[in-house]
Amino acid sequence: MGKQRVLSGIQPTGNLHLGNYLGAIRNWVETQSNYDNFFCVVDLHAITVPHNPTTLASDTFTNAALYLACGIDLQYATIFVQSHIAAHSELTWLLNCITPLNWLERMIQFKEKAVKQGENVSVGLLDYPVLMAADILLYDADIVPVGEDQKQHVELTRDIAGRLNDKFGSKDEPVLKIPEPMIRKEGARVMSLTDGNKKMSKSDPSDMSRINLLDPPELIQKKIKRCKTDPVKGLTFDDPDRPECKNLLTLYTVFSNKTTSEVAEQCQDMGWGQFKPLLTEVTIDALKPIQEKYKEIIDDKGYLNSVLKEGKEKAEAVANQNLSKVKKVLGYLPPL
Ligand code: TYM
Repeated sequence: MGKQRVLSGIQPTGNLHLGNYLGAIRNWVETQSNYDNFFCVVDLHAITVPHNPTTLASDTFTNAALYLACGIDLQYATIFVQSHIAAHSELTWLLNCITPLNWLERMIQFKEKAVKQGENVSVGLLDYPVLMAADILLYDADIVPVGEDQKQHVELTRDIAGRLNDKFGSKDEPVLKIPEPMIRKEGARVMSLTDGNKKMSKSDPSDMSRINLLDPPELIQKKIKRCKTDPVKGLTFDDPDRPECKNLLTLYTVFSNKTTSEVAEQCQDMGWGQFKPLLTEVTIDALKPIQEKYKEIIDDKGYLNSVLKEGKEKAEAVANQNLSKVKKVLGYLPPL
C-alpha cells in the first residue's frame, strides 16, 4: 500500500505567525516523511476579506519560501499555489450546488468575521469553507493537519463529501475520500500576546498581539516584554483565570523542547521578570534558523519559481483527475 496523503494550506499575508507555525507547519514538517504531502498557498482564500492587490503576489512568494525555510522537504512534499490550478475554483462551484446554505451560516469563523465586516461581508467569505473543501477533496487527502480553529471546516468537508457520495456514488465506490483532521494538542490554539482569551491572528490590528516568524530578535524581545501578564507570582498551566500564563508557558514548553511537567516544575515559583527573558531566548533561538534559511530562499527567485512550477504540474495532474471523476458522476458531457 502507498503512503497516505496529506493536504494543508495557509493564506498568504506577507508573514506567518507562531500560531500558523505551531498549529500547522511544524506538524507538517514533523510527520512529512510518513506521508505523500501537498501543501498549498491558498491565495484564493486571501481575497475573502479586503486585500491589497499590490502585495498579494509577493506575499504568496513569502509563504512558499517560509514553507521551505521551516523545513518542508521536496523529497516528500509538493508545494503549489492554489490559484494556479483552475480545478479548485471549478470544484468549488460544483460543491456549492450540493451544499445547504445553513451549513455555511453555522460556521463559527464566518459568524465572527461577518460581525466585524457588517454590511460589506462578501459571498466569498460565506463560501470560504466550500473552497477549502474543494482544496482537500481534489487531492483525495486522508489527513488534514490544521490548528483547532479549522477543525469545523474539516468536519464540514467530511459532510460535503459524504453528501456527494450518498447522492451520486455507490456504496462500494464512493466518489470522494472522507478526510480526517489532524490536530496536535500543544500549539493547536496559540493565543494573542495582548489578550489570552483571543487566538493569535493575522487580522488583529495590533502587531504587538503576535510574534511573526520573520520578526527580528529585538522586536521579539519587545513584544514579549510588553505582552499581557498578571500580578500573580508563581506560574502555572492549570488556572483557568490565567489564560496568558497558560499560553506563555505553552510557548516556552514547545520552544525549549521540555515536557509540560518539567516546565510546570521549573516555573512554579517564578515571577514574570524571571520568566520573560527565558521565553525570549528560546523563541529567538527557535526562529533564527528559519529566518536564515528564508533569506537564502527569497533571494533566489529563480529557484522558488521552479519549485512552484513543478508543484503546479504535479498537483494539477492529481486535481484534474479527481475533478473529472466528480463531473462524470454529476452527469456532465465530457469535452470532445
Ligand atoms: P489560516 O491561513 O488562517 O491558518 C493557517 C493554519 O494555521 C493555523 N492557525 C493557528 N493554529 C494555532 N493557533 C493559532 N492562533 C492559529 N492561527 C492559525 C490554522 O488552524 C491553519 O491550520 N482556510 C484555512 C486555510 C486552508 C486550508 C485548506 C487548510 C485553505 N484550504 C485546506 C487545510 C486544508 C485558513 O484560512 O487558515
